[in-house]
Amino acid sequence: MQRLILIGIALLCASLAVFAAEGDLDALRGNVPLLQERTPEPLYPVENQDLRRSRAYPMQPPTIPHKIDNYQVDLNANRCMSCHSRSRVAQSQAPMISVTHYMDRDGNFLAELSPRRYFCNQCHVPQTTAPTQVDNTFVDIEELLRQPQRNGGGG
Ligand code: HEC
Ligand code: HEC
Repeated sequence: MQRLILIGIALLCASLAVFAAEGDLDALRGNVPLLQERTPEPLYPVENQDLRRSRAYPMQPPTIPHKIDNYQVDLNANRCMSCHSRSRVAQSQAPMISVTHYMDRDGNFLAELSPRRYFCNQCHVPQTTAPTQVDNTFVDIEELLRQPQRNGGGG
């Protein structure tokens, strides 16, 4: 019995050591010891250049290229739709929400924005100028297609 407990403690220590080694990507605390207070990261400004960004794949919800501070989206009002709805785009020159935003889950087209797509920020997010925390090895499909040796295909 005593032996089992000892093994248990040893295992626990080993797993804690692993956690400590991985600690350098702790976005909340950084590598600051528990009893020290950390100097907080600056708040990075939202990119607000009104330039639409390319998408990583066709079905990606495009990221928002403008600020959305104080844009109300609740039961009574949807500020996004005051520019992005079908009837408003002539005036706002914003891109219209696409047809998928009018479809219910069975694929029927509704006359109005589907309730599934009402809360825009579930899928669309603005971007800040913050530096990335981890490297990104994403390769665009067009680049993949241009490299036949990588996908095993010929000519
Ligand atoms: C005052 C009008 C206005 C409001 C309100 C507004 N937008 Fe926009 N939005 C635009 C315009 C104009 C563009 C085109 C790019 C630009 O000028 O920023 C745009 C671009 C976008 C795009 C990029 C589309 C693409 O194909 O790249 C997304 C996504 C978007 N808005 C989402 C939202 C969401 C979500 C909200 C509400 C939180 C919102 N917008 C509120 C005017 C508006
Ligand atoms: C459940 C996820 C989801 C929600 C919620 C959602 N969208 Fe989208 N949106 C997408 C996806 C995915 C795309 C890209 C593919 C497509 O058009 O369906 C898109 C595309 C867009 C585009 C680009 C349209 C185009 O033709 O280039 C705009 C603008 C947009 N959404 C605005 C909005 C606004 C405004 C709202 C809130 C009223 C909203 N979306 C809610 C997922 C969502």
